Amino acid sequence: MKELLANRVKSLTPSSTLAITAKANELKAQGINVIGLGAGEPDFNTPQNILDAAIDSMNKGFTKYTPSGGLPALKDAIIDKLKRDNNLSYNRNEVIVGIGAKHILYTLFQVILNEGDEVIIPIPYWVSYPEQVKLAGGVPVYVESTKEQNYKITAEQLRNAVTDKTKAVVINSPSNPSGMVYSKEELEEIAKVAVEKDLLIVSDEIYEKLLYNGITHFSIAEISEEIKARTIVVNGVAKSHSMTGWRIGYAAGDATIIKSMTDLASHSTSNPTTTSQYATIEAYNGPQDSVEEMRKAFESRLEIIYPKLNAIPGFQVIKPQGAFYLLPDVSEAAEKTGYNSVDEFATALLTEANVAVIPGSGFGVPNAIRLSYATSLELLEEAVSRIENFVKSKWQN
Ligand SMILES: Cc1ncc(COP(=O)(O)O)c(C=O)c1O
Repeated sequence: MKELLANRVKSLTPSSTLAITAKANELKAQGINVIGLGAGEPDFNTPQNILDAAIDSMNKGFTKYTPSGGLPALKDAIIDKLKRDNNLSYNRNEVIVGIGAKHILYTLFQVILNEGDEVIIPIPYWVSYPEQVKLAGGVPVYVESTKEQNYKITAEQLRNAVTDKTKAVVINSPSNPSGMVYSKEELEEIAKVAVEKDLLIVSDEIYEKLLYNGITHFSIAEISEEIKARTIVVNGVAKSHSMTGWRIGYAAGDATIIKSMTDLASHSTSNPTTTSQYATIEAYNGPQDSVEEMRKAFESRLEIIYPKLNAIPGFQVIKPQGAFYLLPDVSEAAEKTGYNSVDEFATALLTEANVAVIPGSGFGVPNAIRLSYATSLELLEEAVSRIENFVKSKWQN
């Protein structure tokens, strides 16, 4: 038989987030009480007004195809949101709605990258960026930010990583997995390099609404018209409105890029699910109280859990400013408890302490683990105490 798979997918690595979840589910099926801190989604229901709007649209018969790039009314709701929240002005032909921010990013890389084009991806990174770049024929170029620099790259590091093949840089603020947020000043420095080196900026702002302790969001596209013209803002309702399963994301940016993404969608996915689009119109045009309620719940969990986690021997945690993840460096804990790597330590946390966390190796930070606090405070406290007992019981001086 001929080779079954195309070269393009041979080096594809499955999401590390999913691997540990599968293992955790296996243990749960055996009756073991595993606490999962791997989740990448809010643990709240989608707000009722959004559910009602979805049901209403179905009852009205809005269950047919829509334009591939999204309903004009939804584009308008997104345009209003970008104006209201980010002070950014776009026209309908500069916006595309797609099947989650993930597929929007996939489509974006497909339309901007030629074979061999480089995309600069700061470490730590969200697991899908490198794979999506490779699937588009591009080459991920990693720039490492250490925990000493708060897991944020500097403009100088970016400048040094640029070659004549560099097409774009990805900025994800607030970040998954670090929860760190770039300040306006830091973004201005990065933007200067983008102009100097003629780079596109892919700005993934999906965690925009999850910011804590007075930190506010600033989109790099807000800096100037010049920067806005070379930035593609990517966002969606998954994290802000607890709508992960509805699969709605969008991009706003250069009309030529948006048109090409829309053309590609017209031959791949067609429109995002019609009902989800109506739900998203309500998410953006309706009351925003539930967004703030969920944010506050995450903030109070962070305030309780962060000091407890940081107090575990051998754990060094930078306090996150946004998203819903903690990224402790646990290299010392792994070593002192007798493990050769943090990956092995993470596996032992699952099989012996029955807490599922994601090893940082999948995000480019092999000394860290990622814990999500998108779960109840009661479970979080229990999980942290299990981890602490596990570390203390195995600690060797
Ligand atoms: C940084 C980042 N970008 C994009 C996405 C994708 O979001 P969506 O559910 O809208 O596809 C995620 C989801 O985990 C994410 O963490």
